Amino acid sequence: MSGTIQKASDIFIVGLRNQHAVESQAIELLERQVGRLENYPEMVDRMRRHIGESQEQARRIEELLKALGTSHSAAKDLGLSFVGNLAAAGHATAPDEVIKNTLANYAFEHYEIASYRALLTLADAAGHSAAKSPLQQSLKEEEAMASWIADHIAPTTLRFLERSAAGAKAGV
Ligand SMILES: [Fe+2]
Repeated sequence: MSGTIQKASDIFIVGLRNQHAVESQAIELLERQVGRLENYPEMVDRMRRHIGESQEQARRIEELLKALGTSHSAAKDLGLSFVGNLAAAGHATAPDEVIKNTLANYAFEHYEIASYRALLTLADAAGHSAAKSPLQQSLKEEEAMASWIADHIAPTTLRFLERSAAGAKAGV
C-alpha cells in the first residue's frame, strides 16, 4: 500500500468508528423524543422507522469494520458527546420542545449526511470499493429522513401554534 492509500484507510477506520458512535447517539436521541411526544403521531411513526434504520446503519458499520479486521469502540460510543444529543436533553424542559427538537434533528441528519459523504470519499481513496454500497444505502436513508423533517417543519410549527393558542400543552 502506498503511504496515501494506507493513510486513507486509517482515517476511514477512525471515521467509521466515529459514525458508529454518532448512530448510537442518534438512536438515543430519537428514543428519548419518541418517549415524550404525545401530539405529533406522524413524527413518532417516522422517528420509530428511523430508529430501526439507525440500528441497521450501526450494524452495517460493524460489518465494515469487521471486514477491515477491526471493530467499533464501545468506549467511544459511550464517550462521544454530540451536540445534537446534548441539545435534545436541554430541550426537554422547553415549552416549545417539539420545535427545538425538529430543528436539532434537521441539523443532526445533515451532520450524518456530511459524515457519510466523507466516508464514501475515504472508501474511494483507500480502495475499499466493497464498502461503498452499504455506505450509500445509509446516506440515502439519512437524506430521506432530512427531507421528511424539512417537509414537516411548517405543519409541526402550525400544529404547535394551534395548540398553544388553544391553551394546550403544545410542546410535546
Ligand atoms: Fe443515521
